Amino acid sequence: MEIQPLITQQQIAERVAELARSIREYIGSEDTVVIANLKGSVIFFSDLVRQLDHNLVSLDFMATESYQGTESSGEVRITHDLSINVAGKKVLLVEDILDTGLTLAAVNRYIKEVHRPSQLKVCVLLNKQERRCVDLKADFIGFEIQNQFVIGYGLDYQQKYRNLPYIGLFNPDTVV
Ligand code: IMP
Repeated sequence: MEIQPLITQQQIAERVAELARSIREYIGSEDTVVIANLKGSVIFFSDLVRQLDHNLVSLDFMATESYQGTESSGEVRITHDLSINVAGKKVLLVEDILDTGLTLAAVNRYIKEVHRPSQLKVCVLLNKQERRCVDLKADFIGFEIQNQFVIGYGLDYQQKYRNLPYIGLFNPDTVV
């Protein structure tokens, strides 16, 4: 399948470095737990956290399921929970994409209510503002994109293409 690039590796690298600068300001000199919401954020998360202060940052993982095919099911299930106790700590949640916002709204609420961090901010690689159906904004945003289905750099179509090193436009007609 031919994949039309939307955001190149170089554009991603430059933007991740900028985001890391802003996130270092948020962290300041406080211990911070940086959480990847798996699986879509895994590549972005890996690039981002390596640019943060190694003395201050701990890493943890959550996993949620919400999507079937290219449409959100609207229901969000937590399939893997945190292993670090983040109560009273500063937290940064890293997400791949903010689409309808249903996943992030549910995960945000869950972390706040169940894990009770002192502060929770959210960093997303991609934002599809047009598709938003809940009142929600990420604190750090990599790129604004149109209402298009994208793959690569962690994002999948039916569990494939996550390891594509750039972000491409997904065209279901060219899939065999
Ligand atoms: P939301 O709950 O509608 O905001 O959807 C969030 C989740 O849907 C993301 O974490 C992705 O896993 C998935 N998703 C949304 N849009 C795309 C896309 O364009 N490509 C791949 N996955 C997507």
